[in-house]
This record gives sequence, C-alpha cells and structure tokens, in this order.
Amino acid sequence: MLSRTLSLREFSHIPRRVGPKVQKRINALKVGQKMQDLPEDLWHDSFRYYVKEDPNRNGGPNLRIIRLDPQRPSLTVTGYVFNKFVHPAENRYITPREAARLQGFPDDFLFHGTLTSVQRQVGNAVPVPLAVAAASAVLEHAQRHQPKGLAIGKDGGCLPALSLFSGAGGMDIGVLQARHQGLSFDVKACLEVDHDCCATLRRNFGSSVHVVEQDITTTEPMDVLDLCGVGPGELPLLFGGPPCQAFSQAGKQRGTHDPRGQLIFEFLRYVERARPVYFIMENVANLRGVAGGELLREIQAEIDRLGYHFTSNLLCAADYGAAQLRRRLVFIGVRKPLPAVQAPLPTHGDDGETLWSHHAYVGVGEAFAGLPSLDEADLDSTLTVRSAIREQLSRRERYRTRCRRT
Ligand SMILES: C[S@@+](CC[C@H](N)C(=O)[O-])C[C@H]1O[C@@H](n2cnc3c(N)ncnc32)[C@H](O)[C@@H]1O
Repeated sequence: MLSRTLSLREFSHIPRRVGPKVQKRINALKVGQKMQDLPEDLWHDSFRYYVKEDPNRNGGPNLRIIRLDPQRPSLTVTGYVFNKFVHPAENRYITPREAARLQGFPDDFLFHGTLTSVQRQVGNAVPVPLAVAAASAVLEHAQRHQPKGLAIGKDGGCLPALSLFSGAGGMDIGVLQARHQGLSFDVKACLEVDHDCCATLRRNFGSSVHVVEQDITTTEPMDVLDLCGVGPGELPLLFGGPPCQAFSQAGKQRGTHDPRGQLIFEFLRYVERARPVYFIMENVANLRGVAGGELLREIQAEIDRLGYHFTSNLLCAADYGAAQLRRRLVFIGVRKPLPAVQAPLPTHGDDGETLWSHHAYVGVGEAFAGLPSLDEADLDSTLTVRSAIREQLSRRERYRTRCRRT
C-alpha cells in the first residue's frame, strides 16, 4: 500500500490562533450552540449590535460561531468557516484538513498555498461524494443508452473528461472516483485561472492531467479539447462549477451584471464548441432566485438552443454521504436525442431509512475520525497517510497501459 509521511503543516491540520477573548467564547460554547446561546458578556460586538440595537435587524452578525455536533452533518463549508466552526470536542476552530474531510477530500490530497488560500480552495470545492453521485448517474445513463461514438466495452471502459473552473479539484476527484459496471472517467485536462489551485492540481494529479492555467475567456475551446485527445462531438463529459460569488448569499446578488455571473455562459460556450455527449454544471442554490428566476430561464433556454436535454436539481451533499448539509444546483445535460439523465437517488437520509436511502447521514464526528487531536500536539510532529489518490492514479495508469496494449 502506498503511504506518505507528512508534517501537520503539510497536512493542513493546523488550528487558527485566536486571542484570549475569542478563546473564552470557544471554551464556553457547548455542542450545537451558537453565539446567541452564550452569556451576553461573551458576545461579539457586532452581534450585540444587530441583535439588540438594530431596530430593523437587516444586517447580520459577521461572526456566527457554532460548535459542530459530532452526530450531525455540518452546515455549508465555505472559505469563511475557519472563524465560525468550532471543533466538536476540542476548544479551537476547525482546521482546513477537517473542512477538507467535510468536503470528502482524501487525506493524501495536499493543498498548495498560504493558509488563507487553502481555506478558500477547500471552501469553494464541490463535495466529492456529490460529484461522485452526479458522475455515476451519467455513467449509468451511458451504460444503458450506449451513445454513439463512446468506447464502451462489455467490461466498461474509461471515458475522457474535461474539467473547467477546476478549483482545487473536488469535483474532479468525484468524477475520477465514479464507477458504474466497470465504466469510469479519465480527467484529461483541467482549466483554472488561480495559480494556487493549479499548483494544488499539479501536485496531486502529476503529469496524468494537463493543467491549463488561464482565464477561460481568453481560451479557444478547440485548443483545450485537443489536450483531451478528442475532436468536437467526441468528448464524453465536460464538467465544472463556474464561480458563484455573484449569486451566493455571501455575494450581493448582482447576478449576470457581475463578470463572475457571466462565466456560466463561458461554460456553455465550451458546450457549444466542444459538443460533449454529457455535461455536468454545478452552481449555488441561489442561482434560481437571481433576477426573479430570469437568469435560470436564460440558462435553460441556452442549453435547449444548444441541443441538449437536461435536468437541474437542487442536491444536498449529505444525501450522498458527505458530512455536510450543502445544497447545490446541479445541471446534467445530454446531447439530444438521448433522453435526459435523472438526478442521482439519495443514498443517505436524516433518519437512515427513507424510500431510497440506506444509510444514516454521516456526522462530523465520523468525518473527523482518526485525525490527530491538536489539544497538545507538537505542530512539527508527523503522521502517515494512505495514498488513495496515488493508488487511484497508478491504477488508472495500469488501465491505460492495458488499453494501449490491446
Ligand atoms: C466554485 S470554484 C470551483 C470549485 C471546483 N469545482 C472544486 O470542486 O474544487 C470556481 C473556480 O473558478 C475559477 N475561475 C474564476 N474565474 C475564472 C476564469 N475567468 N477562468 C478560469 N477559471 C476561473 C476560480 O479560481 C475558482 O477556483
């Protein structure tokens, strides 16, 4: 078994330092409690103002502290939870590695960059189990309908995929992990503008994936498609999560007037030029409400114009095994005339047994299991992690070698 030895720092398992006032607040917080459950003298000033003195209560406190419940999935992980989410049992905020566990990243996936950059990369990611579920639904559809031109053998096969707005690669890992009856995806290229994200992708995927570090608006889709070794109409899967700040609650709902809102149409420009058989496009739930639903209607009309059947569903990551109640809008498209791909059925449920689900939600405690306690940890100590990503990539390399031989 491949494994590697890492320092806690390399593993991004370092707690944020806090001042005595914040530490007092953290110490007083019990499981599941938030700022308002603390004695008033421990409240953050902004919180006191909004709760006690703002007659309209329009604003929100800028410090929403909560101690995570080990039995429950967490609320949505963002780049800003590192001064909000308190560890269930230790008196500190969670580390980027713990947030990465909530997002479903494997332990040997290592992030590049400063602490702030790593926090952003982890917070922006699509939870891996959610991506696995969406990509598996596509594989199942491909297996059933055998789209013309896709190399699907009796034993399955490995279909090329192209990733846009790849970030730190959460969605990519999910696409790589998805399986259906021997059928899987091989991510050939990732396109991403942020340098640290690209360094993270290169560090983990090595030379097995082309990482294109460029602003998508300046790219020519045919050049990027070339890297996948396929021509227009031949790409099995295009996937990505265009930036969502313009629509997210944290953003100011500027929607398409914000240049980041336009990037969804960059994704669709790639669909138009590359004409993949399938696409998966992820975005924030709030997209549905932008401009009274106008943006969503515009996107739907464009997908239809491009000749794709599609479903757009609000999916909750916890329903697919992530320890996080993160809801995302997921578009799955398929080139006409193939029938639409249905949303993946939930595998997990709040009470364990729902109509479709078999498992109870994964709680934060289970997600953090096995991580070194930081109560008295020497930050220069090391730990050994199993190299799941390396194993997976080397398995895929063996598969490619086999394919080249046959
Ligand atoms: C929501 S994040 C994607 C997260 C990713 N899907 C994951 O699972 O880790 C959106 C990404 O789009 C990238 N991005 C923003 N503008 C871009 C542009 N003009 N060209 C290429 N990438 C861009 C951002 O740097 C960010 O990493």
